[in-house]
Amino acid sequence: MKSKEIRKKFLDFFEKKGHKIVPSSPILSTDPTVLFTTAGMQQFKKYFLGEKSPFGKRTVSCQKCFRTSDIDEVGNESHLTFLEMLGNFSFGDYFKEETIEWALEFLTKVCKIPSSKLWFGYFKGDSDVPEDKESLEILQKSGIPKDRIYGFGREDNFWGPTGEEGPCGPTSEIHYDLTGKPCSEGKKCIPNCDCGRFVEVWNLVFNEYYQDRDKKLTPLKQQGVDTGMGLERLAMVLQGKSSVFETDLFEPIIKEIEKQSSQSRADNPKAFRIMADHIKGAVFLASEGVVPSNLEQGYALRRILRRAIRFGKLLNLPKNSLIPIAQKAITIYQDIYPKVKAQETDILTILQKEEEKFEKTLEKGLKFLQKNIEAFKQFNEAAVKEYGQELPFKGGFAFYMYETYGFPADLTLEELKKYPEISKRLNEKEYWTHFKKRLKEHQEISRAGVEKKFGGVGKEVTHEAAKLHTATHLLHQALREVLGEHVKQMGSDITPQRLRFDFSHPAKLTEDELKKVEDLVNQKIEEDLVVKMEEMSYARALESGALAFFKEKYPEKVTVYAINGWSREICAGPHVNHTGELGQFEITKEESSGAGTRRIRAVLK
Ligand code: SER
Repeated sequence: MKSKEIRKKFLDFFEKKGHKIVPSSPILSTDPTVLFTTAGMQQFKKYFLGEKSPFGKRTVSCQKCFRTSDIDEVGNESHLTFLEMLGNFSFGDYFKEETIEWALEFLTKVCKIPSSKLWFGYFKGDSDVPEDKESLEILQKSGIPKDRIYGFGREDNFWGPTGEEGPCGPTSEIHYDLTGKPCSEGKKCIPNCDCGRFVEVWNLVFNEYYQDRDKKLTPLKQQGVDTGMGLERLAMVLQGKSSVFETDLFEPIIKEIEKQSSQSRADNPKAFRIMADHIKGAVFLASEGVVPSNLEQGYALRRILRRAIRFGKLLNLPKNSLIPIAQKAITIYQDIYPKVKAQETDILTILQKEEEKFEKTLEKGLKFLQKNIEAFKQFNEAAVKEYGQELPFKGGFAFYMYETYGFPADLTLEELKKYPEISKRLNEKEYWTHFKKRLKEHQEISRAGVEKKFGGVGKEVTHEAAKLHTATHLLHQALREVLGEHVKQMGSDITPQRLRFDFSHPAKLTEDELKKVEDLVNQKIEEDLVVKMEEMSYARALESGALAFFKEKYPEKVTVYAINGWSREICAGPHVNHTGELGQFEITKEESSGAGTRRIRAVLK
């Protein structure tokens, strides 16, 4: 079955069972606590929490996903950064019974997979959450023999939430038996064995809990179903292949790499796979407007692109070979996601420019490295002559190369190995330990820097900043309502701990006024208003009644954040999606901040 047919069959199957087909949402997530869409359920998160779904209680989708968490596993048979996830969803409608039955029906009747090839995992319970006996019973009732059903813990059979909080619950997983033979573990070779015998194809999540920021679970008022099946993995099974890279979703890309390279895929399967996966991922990120940078989504794009280029070097790919490879990825998806075709020129330009930039860095780095190696050799010779002893060589400048030239440590290692005098004394294990230690120290330092002031790299940090920004808008509007329209923003400062807001007002606020302001903000938080962002010209923004910070010079185009008809302000963000995310608002101090200006400090609890 071609992948196009699989997608269609899945959507049709669930449409017939009363599900509304919903198009994939973008990979760039609108949830401020995550950078990318990593699962099909993300665009439906709020419907699991009780908000009414405009699509009805049953939906089905094929979702574009991007997962940086799996980047180091790419290269094996089944892990990817970019993938498509097939999923059916229920928001307070059907639950375990239908979910499991339909999954079996789809796999065995529509896809015609022999039932004997399917093995199952369910949640065996732990100290917080009881065993999912219901799923076990349903599986047994459907005729699955006991010796193909196994209980697993949190690690394997409990899912979610995405981001820092949200719906989650026990899962039942369906695994496909690729080889039909146990590994040396014998009877212990069951799903989740890492020998490669099993591939997990479908994850059936039963959303029964809400996990908050402190990881506390509370039962959800409404039960939900969120399933996810990797299209690439299903294609691998149905096309009788032993890795996702041999399916029609990858074959043309791999073939093109072979054409460009002097090697065949069997010579270095890992490098082929990483290149194919990363270039495809880069095509999709670029198609949504991401450009390589050192921050957030842009950084992810830069990372996969540079990694692809590096592996391309191992395969002796000539310069500029990213373009024809990326074009193959575009051809595979152009009918399904027309945006990749429409954006082709932009995508290819982005790839080309990043390749050129990285090449320059690599060239500079290489020159520096060679010079240093020569210098080291001379010092060493002198040391041997003078003291009869060789200089120690730990490979300490791998980190310097990385930090200064973006020179990956494995390339540095390969260069070093080209010099016999060095290679014979190079302890690879020590080299890596040393490099990793330095890298960790460096990351800790930069993270501390970010946390001191919001720089916007850490996800949690960005979300805390978003909350305080939104709280500032609520405070501004509350002050105007309680004190009067003369209140104008004179300054604002946000740190991870608090917000500080300066505004025009002639007198000290009374206890009563402060309480009214605080109550009004908390009321708006409780109302859980939607925060919407719109882009418009500065003139139109003012016309629409948006507040502006009068000391600021604004660009031609501005973003306006509107809190459900109550507050409108020109602001660069970031903001949360709903005021309900803020928690409790508390004013901690009110004081003077110059003539006719007051200052309020407040926190969120
Ligand atoms: N959310 C689950 C997953 O990503 C099922 O869709 O695996």
